[in-house]
Amino acid sequence: MADRRENALQYARKNKEKFLNAYKEILKIPSVSTDPAHSVDIRYASEWLAAQLRTLGMQKVQIFPTSKHPIVYGEWLGAGGAPTVLIYGHYDVQPADPLNLWKTDPFDPVVRGEEIFARGASDMKGQVVVMLKAVESLVKTGGMPVNLKWLFEGEEEIGSPNLATFIAEHKDLLSSDFAVNPDAGMIGKEYPTITYALRGLAYFELRIYGPGQDLHSGIYGGVVHNPAIVLAELVAGMHDAKGRVTLPGFYDRVLKLTKEEREELARLPIDDNNFLQITGAPALYGEAGFTANERTGARPSLDVNGMLSGFTGEGSKTVIPSLAMAKISMRLVPDQDPKEVHQQFIRYLQKQAPKDIRWELIAMAGASASISDRNNVWVQAMGKALETVWGTRPYFRREGGSIPVVRDMQELLGVESVISGFGLPDDNVHAPNEKMHLPTWYRGIEAFIHFFLNLIP
Ligand code: BES
Ligand code: MN
Repeated sequence: MADRRENALQYARKNKEKFLNAYKEILKIPSVSTDPAHSVDIRYASEWLAAQLRTLGMQKVQIFPTSKHPIVYGEWLGAGGAPTVLIYGHYDVQPADPLNLWKTDPFDPVVRGEEIFARGASDMKGQVVVMLKAVESLVKTGGMPVNLKWLFEGEEEIGSPNLATFIAEHKDLLSSDFAVNPDAGMIGKEYPTITYALRGLAYFELRIYGPGQDLHSGIYGGVVHNPAIVLAELVAGMHDAKGRVTLPGFYDRVLKLTKEEREELARLPIDDNNFLQITGAPALYGEAGFTANERTGARPSLDVNGMLSGFTGEGSKTVIPSLAMAKISMRLVPDQDPKEVHQQFIRYLQKQAPKDIRWELIAMAGASASISDRNNVWVQAMGKALETVWGTRPYFRREGGSIPVVRDMQELLGVESVISGFGLPDDNVHAPNEKMHLPTWYRGIEAFIHFFLNLIP
């Protein structure tokens, strides 16, 4: 057993270059899920993964088409009575724009210093390759100690619209003891982290229609309501003076933080000052009475993700726009429901929007929040693996981002996820110059080797 561990670790150490090359290969595929122009790349990425699984000796490797992007499955059930682990990953990425802010091509990975730069380097192709290479290290030495099932989707960054249906229709295929999900990162590179809660999401496009066409602002200024101004007023009304969201009933289902949990969150090695530094904002803003850790982890929020109206080019143009649009989304916490939040948004608009304009609200991505069990043996196996590699016990934290599959697996399969990845807070995920810290990435591979071996006696 000791040898088995040592052999797998040795294999990983010897094959660093080779692992890095595989990582670069998948980073070169621009698998942007939101953009139909990239559907060929999405398909190519799914085929790349299927090929990797076959090379690892996985069986039943199959690419399942969905109404949008394919799901990749593979399994190896040769470990007898050992546990069966469901490994989750997504191979899609966010769009790379604004392109002009990238120092190098987002789909031509470059190593600078200890970091590799490319879209998806951290979220989450790097994490996917960590799992593939940890498994390879075991397969090529003593063999896999546990049974494996792999589930890769290509729609995570657009809210996983087809995944729940797929899971519901393949319950037997996916049945397993627990899942691992490395799609959430670390508090800092010396702070191994297990994430036990994620926020949900309700994403909308709000359109405000004013005059039938753009108008000369001299001829018509002062006689019609300007949709950009209406939109600004509506958005401004969505928070009160205490930073609370004003949609009717928005907080009704929000679970209160217990005293114990607040004390625990206060012990995390990151505080308001770190948030101030990382964000580069002149000051923090948010719901009064909560720390930044509490606000991102356990309180809901509302943001404008983008706005569009009228003339935004060089110089000046005197015009009253006929349309104003904003992308508006809320991060949700247990037990808020994205569908209920949609209704709350409609009620807000019915009450607040002036009658002299027309509005339209389009619901986009939606996901439920989740809280995961943090005392089971699978979490303990991960905790021990992280401690072995980092020499320090992992921190347990609540995360502000969303991973829809975690709740879907709980509800549809009765399967809990162990959520632990190796991205860092300054990886620029979803932003220009996304990167991954390579020494941390290699440590991640070793951690997963330990983790799999920790699952058997
Ligand atoms: N990996 C992220 C989720 C995440 C972000 C975990 C930050 C931990 C920290 C994931 O790929 C993601 O970005 N999800 C989207 C989901 C949405 C489109 C439903 C998100 O959170 O915006
Ligand atoms: Mn993401």
